[in-house]
Amino acid sequence: MMQNDMKIGRLKNSVLGSLAVSACLQTLKKVYRNFCKALYSAMMHWSRLLLGGIALPLVLPWLVYNLYRSHFKNKIFRNRSLEDKVVLITGASSGLGEALAHAFHKAGTKVILAARRKDALEKVKNDLITKYPSKNTPVVLTLDLHDLKRIPQKAREALDLYGHIDILVNNGGISYRGEISETDLEVDLRVMVTNYFGPVALTKAILPSMLERNSGSIVAISSVQGKIAIPFRSAYSASKHATQAFFDTLKSELSHTNIHVCVVSPGYVHTNLSLNAVTARGELYGVMDESTASGMDPYDAAENIIIATAAKRSELLLAGILPKIAIFIRVFSSWLYFYLMGSRARRIRAANMIKED
Ligand SMILES: NC(=O)c1ccc[n+]([C@@H]2O[C@H](COP(=O)([O-])OP(=O)(O)OC[C@H]3O[C@@H](n4cnc5c(N)ncnc54)[C@H](OP(=O)(O)O)[C@@H]3O)[C@@H](O)[C@H]2O)c1
Repeated sequence: MMQNDMKIGRLKNSVLGSLAVSACLQTLKKVYRNFCKALYSAMMHWSRLLLGGIALPLVLPWLVYNLYRSHFKNKIFRNRSLEDKVVLITGASSGLGEALAHAFHKAGTKVILAARRKDALEKVKNDLITKYPSKNTPVVLTLDLHDLKRIPQKAREALDLYGHIDILVNNGGISYRGEISETDLEVDLRVMVTNYFGPVALTKAILPSMLERNSGSIVAISSVQGKIAIPFRSAYSASKHATQAFFDTLKSELSHTNIHVCVVSPGYVHTNLSLNAVTARGELYGVMDESTASGMDPYDAAENIIIATAAKRSELLLAGILPKIAIFIRVFSSWLYFYLMGSRARRIRAANMIKED
């Protein structure tokens, strides 16, 4: 009897126990479900808030900006906005200037090709005429950016061709290879005058006519080296830093007008720049550097520059990720930048490659 009672008692306990466990489980499930529901609705609430409050104000302008840019990437719209504009391009006899001449001529503008070598300019002109028939015939203008005294007269000649200039592309320039301690001051002056004072003089000679019409674009071809200085390029880098500063200032000073200023900073472009560079002693460097040879195609660069000009962009950094990181490091961590540049300088010096870098 007693044994039976005990069995019944145990059975009762186990039934009660399992009932309690299943009740607990049910409650836990409910709590879990409610928790998931609350989490889900909180996530939805916050993501809506984030989307609406933060992402949308960021994404919308980005979308509008890209729509605006794609408008100018579209050749038909871009060419319509540039058609019959008078464009003066310096350094049009080779490299990036020649590619820019092709791009602007194809877009239906009236191109004035300026540089020192008349024969090279005539060749570019003939190429343009044969490759892209247009109602506008390119004009050749010999101009030496180093001859500061004659620049106002040359600007007058350019202005007299069509009565005005819509777009001035300050592209002509030379590069330099050498060590500061061994470089003649004459070389610094030559690079500075050609790359900086020449374009400044030309801009000053053309600017009054743009101000009179309250219209025009001034494009300055600077360089990544206008933002960061690298060893054994002092004169070139200094001339491009000065270019950046001058045209940045001009941009601000012209903000009340309808005149647009754009500074273009390319990384390496595959042109004759290193071949035509001057050495510390003022001789021709005459070497095609590996970095220049593996640089961007000048026609791709020109395409980007014409889009930026048509879209009236104020700045264009035409470079890969590494130069962009270097610019970032220079601004936000100067000690790291100088550490890296110092080791670069020591490496080049150890390999006795100052000229070949
Ligand atoms: N290639 C690159 O990696 C690179 C990178 C960043 C920026 N850039 C810049 O891009 C611009 C064009 O250079 P590029 O790469 O096309 O080199 P490039 O092939 O050597 O062309 C230089 C042009 O500048 C002209 N020029 C040189 N000295 C001149 C002077 N005293 N007066 C008038 N014109 C002069 C040359 O014509 P003449 O000899 O007939 O006068 C030539 O048309 C330069 O401002 C350069 O600093 C180039």
